[in-house]
Amino acid sequence: MLEACPRPLGGRDGLLGAPRRICLAKPCRIWRSRHERPVLSRGPAAEPPIPARVEPIRLPASIATLFRTVARNPLASIPEQAYREPFVRVPLLGRETFHLCDPDLVRAVLLDGSDRFVKSEAAQRALVPAVGRAVLTAEGERWRWQRRALAPMFRPERILDFVPVMVARAEATRRRWLALATDPTAITDAAEDMMLTTFDIVLDALFSGPDGIDVPAFAADITAAMEGRAGSSPIPCSAYPNGRPIRASGGSMPRARLRARVEALVRARRADPAPRADLLTRLIEAEDPETGQRMGDRDVADNLLTFMVAGHETTALALTWALYLLTLHPEATETIRAEVDAVTGGGAVEAGHVDRLVYTRAVIDEAMRLYPPAPIIPRQATEDVELPGLGLVRKGAPVIIPVYAIQRHRRLWSDPDRFDPTRFLGEAPKSRPRYAYLPFGAGPRICIGMSFALVEAVVVLATLLRGLEVSPVPGFVPELKARITLRPEPGLPMRVLPR
Ligand code: HEM
Repeated sequence: MLEACPRPLGGRDGLLGAPRRICLAKPCRIWRSRHERPVLSRGPAAEPPIPARVEPIRLPASIATLFRTVARNPLASIPEQAYREPFVRVPLLGRETFHLCDPDLVRAVLLDGSDRFVKSEAAQRALVPAVGRAVLTAEGERWRWQRRALAPMFRPERILDFVPVMVARAEATRRRWLALATDPTAITDAAEDMMLTTFDIVLDALFSGPDGIDVPAFAADITAAMEGRAGSSPIPCSAYPNGRPIRASGGSMPRARLRARVEALVRARRADPAPRADLLTRLIEAEDPETGQRMGDRDVADNLLTFMVAGHETTALALTWALYLLTLHPEATETIRAEVDAVTGGGAVEAGHVDRLVYTRAVIDEAMRLYPPAPIIPRQATEDVELPGLGLVRKGAPVIIPVYAIQRHRRLWSDPDRFDPTRFLGEAPKSRPRYAYLPFGAGPRICIGMSFALVEAVVVLATLLRGLEVSPVPGFVPELKARITLRPEPGLPMRVLPR
């Protein structure tokens, strides 16, 4: 456990230059001598870092620079110090934003202090208009009962029921790629391909397939409704004067239409006596094990929208970044193919194979370390809180868990910018603190769809690489753009070649 910084309060504010009665951006020398973790390195044999990276802001910086950076790319506003220090304070206009990187501090916020550090106002403002007060956005008792009711439908053993639909949709994409592979000059956008594949999978899983759903209209409304949301920044927006997300929010028309479409689907399903094993049926039947409470149409619709929004883009991005890394590491692609052949005997991936595809899973894990689909977890203190080793966090202060920086932290990972799936094999994960790896968050608000996403990512990747090579477009390095999710810009052009 971290203990309090023994340095007396005092110093100057790094941004405004005004005297302050707080510790500065860095922990002091005495604190360091007691707690500092060593920089980890594997020595001179290390490969060069993966080129797609973000250039972080260096503090101190002017207010104008900080604002410009957040508006341009919130990921770049995670200060450079966050990649090597246990925490960073960013004082700004009389308020402080905290970036917490030390695993003990992360635990203190996400697990031990989960009641006192709630989802930030900025993140709520970005999401509530689109998905209502569903499990992703609700707080307090409203969140607790929904989470209790929904948890059973996402249990790992129940997720395996969806492996056949995952394989079928991945096969459809692989067939498109096989056709492309006959033309050595053809280029595909893997980011878009993965987005379409996971959207199809989520529709199949939620509604037993798109029967009766106008898929293009549905997809267009989701995109329009989320346009501004995905463009909103979860970063220290609440530290800024008006506390608003940087970009304007998406239109209310598509959102209203989308909600009407989803509520109509829910009503139709309640009236349909035919038994179905999809997530919509599980959602309608979900009940709080403590009170027996079930959801009304509106709550069911809000959670359906949540699963569509929270579920398909994040998994698509995990796959997209894994493919990017594989274009740079053909030897890893080969290892995946060999593993898939050995486990499946050359047939389609089945539910019973998933746990044995350990290297494929390690590639997904490593891709989500280097490029976490949700790169920042924002919180806000609901009261004054004393954090060990850091001091006072005032009520209302934005607290950022910079997942991207933590997962590349020099004191938590050796050669952090290098691709190495073996970090996730065998006993290796046990040698790291639990809170050093957080692609799905942690504590009571940990991603409810984690098992679904992991099974889906493994099944899709294992299926896609059959008989195919993925290869980079020479000289192309995607830019990292993070709003709520971490996307490659302008997409991920790549070649697919026959093996
Ligand atoms: C690779 C894919 C995914 C990633 C990286 C991811 C990441 C995350 C993260 C980091 C959180 C915690 C946010 C916070 O604490 O503020 C979260 C929460 C959540 N995720 Fe995911 N997610 C993924 C897939 C999914 C899927 C497939 C679903 C549903 C089908 C889903 C549904 C949710 C929901 C409902 C929450 C809110 C849980 C709560 O607050 O109780 N996610 N996710």
